[in-house]
Parts: sequence; C-alpha cells; structure tokens
Amino acid sequence: MQRSGKLPSVTARIAVLASGTGSNLEAILNHFADGAAAETGAVVLVASDNPRAGALARARARGIPATTLPNWADGPAIVDRLRDARIDTIALAGYLRFLPPEITRGYRGRVLNVHPALLPAFGGRGMYGHRVHDAVIAAGARVSGATVHFVDEEYDHGPIIAQEPVPVFPDDDAATLAQRVLRTEHAIYPRSIEAVVAGRVVLCENGRVRGSI
Ligand code: GRF
Repeated sequence: MQRSGKLPSVTARIAVLASGTGSNLEAILNHFADGAAAETGAVVLVASDNPRAGALARARARGIPATTLPNWADGPAIVDRLRDARIDTIALAGYLRFLPPEITRGYRGRVLNVHPALLPAFGGRGMYGHRVHDAVIAAGARVSGATVHFVDEEYDHGPIIAQEPVPVFPDDDAATLAQRVLRTEHAIYPRSIEAVVAGRVVLCENGRVRGSI
C-alpha cells in the first residue's frame, strides 16, 4: 500500500536541570525557539534542586513547566518524573547535584552536561563555578574553554561531544574568565543538544562519540 502525506515529525522532549542563574538554559530556549532546531526538539520541563534558582523563574516566564526536585538523590522518583513528562533527553545546565545512576544508566547517551573548562583538566567533584576558573588561573594556563560531554557515573567524566578553547589573559580573575567562557558555553551547548537529538552525534556502545556538532 502506498503511503501519502508527510511522515509525522519526531520532536525530542528535552528536560533541563539547573541549580543557578540559568543563562545556559536561556541560550538553549532561544536556540530551540525557531528554525531547524525547533523541529528537532523542545524543552518541555525545567527542574532544579534549588527552589530559588533563577532558571526556574526563566522557565516560568516562558510558560515552560518548572519544578523543584526536593528528593534530588532519589533516582527512581526522578525517573518517574521524567517518564511522566515523556522526556527523552536531559541537559544539565549548571546543575550542582550528583545525578543518580538510575538516570545516567537509564538515559545513557541522552544526558549532556556543559563544563566551564577543557576537560579532563579542571573537572571533577567540587570543581564548579568560580573554583574552576580560580584553578585555571592558579595553574597559569593560557587557554581554558568550554566542554560539552555525555554524563556518566562520575563527575565531569563522560565522553566528550564538543570543546572550544577560550584564551586566559594575564589580568583575568575568575569573574572575567567565567564571563568569557560562558559566552562560549552558550554558543556550543545548544548546538550540541540539537546534534544529539537530531542523531548527528551518537554515543556508541564502545563509549566513543560518533559525529560532531
Ligand atoms: C556554567 O558555567 C556551567 O558550565 C557551570 O555553571 C555555570 C552555570 O551558569 N556548570 P548558568 O546558571 O547557566 O548561568
């Protein structure tokens, strides 16, 4: 039998988890607001461990369901929340809590994170916010940058999707460096999420990443 008409378009349902200001969330929302990205995916849920997170307010201002995760360590409860909202892709955007293994295993290859340095340097437990940039400056590094990676069971450890370098200047402090790196995060993170939901970037069985943004 011949089929007529267009195939239904498949739109990924993305959840963003954030603990803080939410500037990366804003960049993601802007990216998926129109154009080709809007046809590949949509942010349908924003969740935070912190009820005062600016990210929740940004989501609500755009009419996107926003929720707190009081039981952020309760993996099965979070999985239930994600399943209820039919989430298939999760983007951590300044999310400071350890993601329970039920999520990293259940959504393998579908959970992304952005880190404000060039991993595997300057990452790991306790390396977040200005601590990362202080460590980069203290080490005398001339280059820092942003990394987008798949999330596994260790902090800042999963397979790398994209990286972009950012110069470190002699008079930088953590705040000026953070600002410069953040602009790069905003550029590469939304594109990375789109590449994953569109299937252009894939986490292979052997743990390697195929494709590029
Ligand atoms: C970003 O630098 C992100 O890489 C880090 O925390 C910061 C969050 O910023 N993990 P924002 O909340 O997206 O503005």
